[in-house]
Amino acid sequence: QRRAYHEKVLDHYNNPRNVGSMKKGDQDVGTGLVGAPACGDVMKLQIRVNKDSGRIDDVVFKTFGCGSAIASSSYLTELVRGMTLDEAGLVKNTDVAKELCLPPVKLHCSMLAEDAIKSAISDYYTKNPKSKSTDLSGTGAAIPDMKVEIEQTATGSPAAAI
Ligand code: FES
Repeated sequence: QRRAYHEKVLDHYNNPRNVGSMKKGDQDVGTGLVGAPACGDVMKLQIRVNKDSGRIDDVVFKTFGCGSAIASSSYLTELVRGMTLDEAGLVKNTDVAKELCLPPVKLHCSMLAEDAIKSAISDYYTKNPKSKSTDLSGTGAAIPDMKVEIEQTATGSPAAAI
């Protein structure tokens, strides 16, 4: 029996916020690319950090995965925009799962979003070590060689998203 998605998931799935890509090499960009080993879904999240304020000025994602993963990443971009890196590093998958009313079997989809933002922050700090104030290491498995594939296949639009 198929479980229907909650309307909040469908809303993000049908109208994903902040789908896009940034230049990975830019000094002010942090890139998180993580995968869920169990299902093979992949999420790329990128943040652009304002050096002066230390806040996330812009954030985009591309997710190749299930509806809950797309919704989790879409919601996360709304959540962390404007946050400091310290604040964004404290965002938990349960914050995302609660907002989207994810059922227990879909919790790992929101975990992907938590992994992705942590990984993006970690990448930013690797590039800009002087701006680091706390120790945050990404927990997601880094899979750089999937980059080409995700950029070709994942647009975040419903047609290409599942
Ligand atoms: Fe794996 Fe959703 S089923 S991320």
